Amino acid sequence: MSLPLPVIPLPREEPGSFSFTEAEIEAEALRLQEAIQQHQRWPLETCRGIAPITLEINRLKKENDVFLIAHTYQTPDIIYGVADEVADSYTLSKAARDAPQQTILFSSVRFMAETAKIVSPHKTVIHPSPEAGCSLSDGITAQDVRDLRAQYPGVPVACYINTTAAVKAECDVSVTSSNYLRICERLPGDKLIFVPDRFMGAHLQKALQGKKEVIVFDGECEVHAVFTGEKVRQWRQRIGENLSVLAHPECSADVLEEADFVGSSEKLIHEAIRLGTVGQPDVMLITECGTAERVMAEAEEELNLYGACVMCRHMKATQLEDILQALQAPRVDQVIEIDSEIIARAQHNLDEMFRLAE
Ligand code: 13P
Ligand code: SF4
Repeated sequence: MSLPLPVIPLPREEPGSFSFTEAEIEAEALRLQEAIQQHQRWPLETCRGIAPITLEINRLKKENDVFLIAHTYQTPDIIYGVADEVADSYTLSKAARDAPQQTILFSSVRFMAETAKIVSPHKTVIHPSPEAGCSLSDGITAQDVRDLRAQYPGVPVACYINTTAAVKAECDVSVTSSNYLRICERLPGDKLIFVPDRFMGAHLQKALQGKKEVIVFDGECEVHAVFTGEKVRQWRQRIGENLSVLAHPECSADVLEEADFVGSSEKLIHEAIRLGTVGQPDVMLITECGTAERVMAEAEEELNLYGACVMCRHMKATQLEDILQALQAPRVDQVIEIDSEIIARAQHNLDEMFRLAE
């Protein structure tokens, strides 16, 4: 596969001294390399370097009965080394809700860990990187939603799940990249307010044309905003009509126009893998780099991945050492706490999402 990928995050410092034997470390290094499936970027030597950390994290998880959730955009050492569940934001919020463990460690950006706390407030939710935000969730406040409600009284408000708990508390329902069309179509009335993603909002406006008026906020994902329709057209000219273009719905309208398939991170992975099995190996994934890394690891058929992915600096803020430290002794700011009144209102919002999505 020919995709230029970002530099891998090597351990920041020598792993501490854990009591694993050389044989255990070697077996873990081989397991990691086999799972990650990028032998050049993740040579055995690199895997040996991180093996003591993944072994210790997995030991601590077992000892303390912790369920470790990771979003697809986390790095492969986290995804294949220590995660119990990896998926898109909808599946991960259900996993957090349904996990029998009392403690969840959420390796991802802040709004996803907050969502886990809202759907299971009685559990302890640890978020190793409190500074890991998101340009969408950081671009809108609860007051922005109250202002929109005052401007359009009685109009239902749907928010993308990439929002803080305080924003969710002001909205009627959350949606994700895997269900925004279905849920928004099912909302009552002929008007709706959609926040904060203007690109997903534009996609909704197009899909619901003639059925509903969609009032859209002006936020955007700093990663998906980088892609352009022009670049996609250039690649099509270069590769030809066999190229399948798969895009995330946070991309702009001119990119989505060019796409053969639009879906959540998980749906893009499944579609790329499926294309490989039906003899259509030329694929362009227009999204964050973690999606391509999972396709490389999980596709059984050889794929030709074209174009360049973009890395989310917020998602990549978490490293294995942060997870280890947060499991050993979480700092106060690594344990998600949300005001109980906000939890109750945001919980109603997410219950509505689960009801309307299924
Ligand atoms: P997914 O739900 O598709 O994984 O998207 C989350 C996200 O933040 C995409 O940028
Ligand atoms: Fe937010 Fe975009 Fe990063 Fe996803 S990729 S977490 S939407 S900034």
